[in-house]
Amino acid sequence: MSLALRGVGYRYPGVAVPALLDVDLHLGSGEVVGVTGASESGKTTLCLVVSGLAPRVVGGRIRGTITLDGESVDDWPMHRLAGRVGIGFQDPTSQLSQVAVTVFEEVAFGPMNLGVARDAIVERTWEALGTLRIEGLAERDPRRLSGGQQQLVAMAGLLAMRPAHLVLDEPTAQLDPAGTRLVAEAVERLAEGGASILITEQKTDLLASVADRVVVLRDGRFALDGPTDEVLADPRLIELGVREPAPLRLRRLAATAGVDPALLQPAADA
Ligand SMILES: Nc1ncnc2c1ncn2[C@@H]1O[C@H](COP(=O)(O)OP(=O)(O)OP(=O)(O)O)[C@@H](O)[C@H]1O
Ligand SMILES: [Mg+2]
Repeated sequence: MSLALRGVGYRYPGVAVPALLDVDLHLGSGEVVGVTGASESGKTTLCLVVSGLAPRVVGGRIRGTITLDGESVDDWPMHRLAGRVGIGFQDPTSQLSQVAVTVFEEVAFGPMNLGVARDAIVERTWEALGTLRIEGLAERDPRRLSGGQQQLVAMAGLLAMRPAHLVLDEPTAQLDPAGTRLVAEAVERLAEGGASILITEQKTDLLASVADRVVVLRDGRFALDGPTDEVLADPRLIELGVREPAPLRLRRLAATAGVDPALLQPAADA
């Protein structure tokens, strides 16, 4: 299982300036790559390009090559790509089917569309609900949940499809720390199963806990790209508009204030 971009550039329709430029990216089986960057740096655009929605649905022009498991996807229609790459959006309402009247149906919708056998659909649905600890919502109307609950339901729907490749655009934007931790666990579980996962986040604490590698975007290009620990400790992070993870921020502030960082250890690890 692998997903690779080589020399990829992308322009939105009617826009002269490329929103992505010279992107080289490789995600191996079980690998989690975190993407961060300031607002408008290109995180969502990268998700659209990797999932194939840009240009197929969004329009615009793409260059470079994208390969899935070694095969170029240039000529693949959207439905073929969608069967291989799952995508989760920042706004969960855009993700909901709008036809399911219960959360259970909503989560079952994806595997049902994939033609999964009935017993397996039921099993996968309960498992996905359990992973995100939302079994209690099974009979609720997905359209009448809070934004955070909808985000967990959307995530459960993706889990139930057991995608080989998954693209998540700020999947915890509306979640509290407990919900964010559940998503992190779900991502780790999927990766353990061999999925390759691209996840964008402004929450670098989350990336610190789940990502093997982190990329920082600036104006549609990779400004930093490397192992998570190195990238998230890079002093250029702040000027790239990215907040460092909380433990690092505390240590830096302590150093600036002349406080012994050892004194902060319990708080930093809490
Ligand atoms: N549909 C569109 N048409 C034209 N330009 C767009 C479109 N969507 C985004 N852009 C532009 O592409 C660039 C990258 O935007 P993108 O939404 O990918 O950034 P982002 O990092 O996801 O930002 P945010 O943190 O706000 O979600 C920006 O300059 C943006 O204005
Ligand atoms: Mg975005």
